[in-house]
Amino acid sequence: MKFNQLLIVFVVQVFLRTTYGEPINKKFPENFLFGTATASYQVEGAWITDGKGENIWDHFTHIHSDLIANGDNGDIACDSYNKYQEDVAMLKDLGVNFYRFSLSWSRILPSGFTNQVNQPGVDYYKNLIAALKENGIEPYVTLYHWDLPEPLQELGGWPNPDLADYFAEYARLAFTLFGDDVKNWMTFNEAKQTCQLGYGYGVYAPGVASDGIGDYLCAHTVLRAHAKAYHIYDEEFRATQNGRVSMVVDTDWFEPDSDSEEDIEAAERRIQFNFGWYANAIYHPDGNYPQVMIDRIADRSQQEGFPRSRLPEFTPEEVEYIKGTYDFFALNTYTTSLVKWSDDYPIGTPSWDADGSVTVYQDSSWNSSASGWLKVVPWGTRKLLNWIDQTYDHPEIVITENGYSDHGELDDQDRINYYSKYLSNILQAILEDGVNVTGYTAWSLMDNFEWLSGYTEKFGLYQVDFTDPNRTRTIKSSAKFYKNVIATKCLVDTCEE
Ligand SMILES: *[C@@H]1O[C@H](CO)[C@@H](O)[C@H](O)[C@H]1NC(C)=O
Ligand SMILES: *[C@@H]1O[C@H](CO)[C@@H](O)[C@H](O)[C@H]1NC(C)=O
Ligand SMILES: *[C@@H]1O[C@H](CO)[C@@H](O)[C@H](O)[C@H]1NC(C)=O
Repeated sequence: MKFNQLLIVFVVQVFLRTTYGEPINKKFPENFLFGTATASYQVEGAWITDGKGENIWDHFTHIHSDLIANGDNGDIACDSYNKYQEDVAMLKDLGVNFYRFSLSWSRILPSGFTNQVNQPGVDYYKNLIAALKENGIEPYVTLYHWDLPEPLQELGGWPNPDLADYFAEYARLAFTLFGDDVKNWMTFNEAKQTCQLGYGYGVYAPGVASDGIGDYLCAHTVLRAHAKAYHIYDEEFRATQNGRVSMVVDTDWFEPDSDSEEDIEAAERRIQFNFGWYANAIYHPDGNYPQVMIDRIADRSQQEGFPRSRLPEFTPEEVEYIKGTYDFFALNTYTTSLVKWSDDYPIGTPSWDADGSVTVYQDSSWNSSASGWLKVVPWGTRKLLNWIDQTYDHPEIVITENGYSDHGELDDQDRINYYSKYLSNILQAILEDGVNVTGYTAWSLMDNFEWLSGYTEKFGLYQVDFTDPNRTRTIKSSAKFYKNVIATKCLVDTCEE
C-alpha cells in the first residue's frame, strides 16, 4: 500500500477506535448462523480407548507434564467420547445452528496412515454426527486441530513435505466416510499455532525449537496439504456432496501505536507476518506469501550466511494451485495488540520475530481475562473484519472462534460483557461497513483442556467439574445469554424491527 492509502485506512481506524462497543439495538441478518466449538484433544478424553493411536499431544503431555499447569493432560478431559449425547443435549438447549468440532486423526487412523482404519473411532464420529443432525444441528468439522498422529511426528512432522500427501489421504477418507452428512469442512485450525509454537518456539507439542526455519517449513507443508485436500474435494466429492472447504486462520488485530508513518507500516507488516503468512496464499487474489515476508526473510537469510531464503519458495504452479482454495473465509480472533516501529533487529540467530522486527504490546488499561494474552478490545474485531474485507476482496467471512477465559464462575458476567461487545462490533461491521460476515462461533461449548494452561483457564458456556469422574456439566449465565441472542438475533432487551 502507498502512504496516502495507509493514511486513509488510518483515519478510518481512528474513527472506529472511538466505538467502544456498547451493544447496538439492531438485529443480526435473518440467515446469520450461530454456533459453538470444541476440539478433539481438548474434550474427548479416551486417549487410548477402543484402538485409538497416540498423537503428539498425548505424547507431549505425558513426557512433559512439568510444562503443563498442574501436570494435567487430556487423557480424560471432558470425557466427550463417552458423553457426546449430553454435549448434543446442551447444544440443542442453546439452539445453535451448528457445532464445530474436530476429528482426532489417531482415533480414525491409529498409525496415521490409511491402510488401517479403526472402526470404533469411525463409529464415534458417525454417532456424534447423527445425533447432531437428529437435533437439527449442522456439523462443522475440522480435520486437524493440532493432534498429529505420533508416527507421523517420528517422520519429522509438518516440516516433512511428504506429510502433505498423508494429510490429503486422510482428508479423502474423511470426505468418503462423513461427507454425505458434513457440508462444512475446515482442513486446519490455526496452523500458525502448530507451526510457530510446535516447530518454531518449540513450546507446544511436538516441542521442536527451530525458530525462523522449522516454522516456515511447517507452514509450507500445511498450505500445500490444505490445497491438496481442497482439490480432492473439488474433483472427487463436490459434485455429489455439495459442501464447502476452507482453512481456519487466526490473528489478533494489530493497531498502530501512533499515527506516524513508521507505526502504521509496522502494524501492517505485523499482520502480514502473523496472518498473511497463512492467509495470503489461499485468500489473496495474487496468492503466495506476502511480499514483505518474501523480501525481508530473503534479505536477512543472506546476511546471516544462508545460501537461500529460510522462507521456502512456492513454484508459480504451486501459487496457482493453492490460490483460491476456499469456499468462505474462516477466521479465529480473540484480541488486539499495539504495534510500534522498531529498528531492524541485529543480524544473528534467525527468528520469526527478528524477520518481522516490530515491537508488539497490549495496553495495560484494557480489561483482562484468565489468559495473559487475551485482553478485551471489542473495537479491534471490527477493524480486523474491515481489513480482511479490503485486503482479500470482500470474502464471505465465518468467525470460527471467538471467546473469553475466566476461572470457571457460573455467573460469568465478564464473559457476557465480552460476547455482547464483540458481537455488537461484528454486527456493526456487517450493517454499517458492509463486511460479509455470515456466521459466528463461540469458543467454547464447555470448559476444557486449554493446552499448556491445563484446566486453569476456562472458556466454556457450560462448566465442567473436572474433579468429578462424571465430568458433570452445569449451565453458566453466559449460555443463557447466548441462547437468547440466538433465539432473538438481538443483543439487547429489544431490537428495532
Ligand atoms: C471492562 O470491564 C468493566 C467491568 O466489568 C465493564 O464495565 C466495561 O464495560 C468493560 N469494558 C470493555 C471494553 O469490555
Ligand atoms: C455474502 O457472501 C455470500 C456467499 O458468497 C453471497 O451469496 C452474498 O451475496 C454475500 N453478501 C454480501 C452482502 O456481499
Ligand atoms: C452426571 O452429569 C450429568 C450432567 O453432565 C448429570 O445430568 C447426571 O445427573 C450426573 N450423574 C451423576 C451420577 O452424578
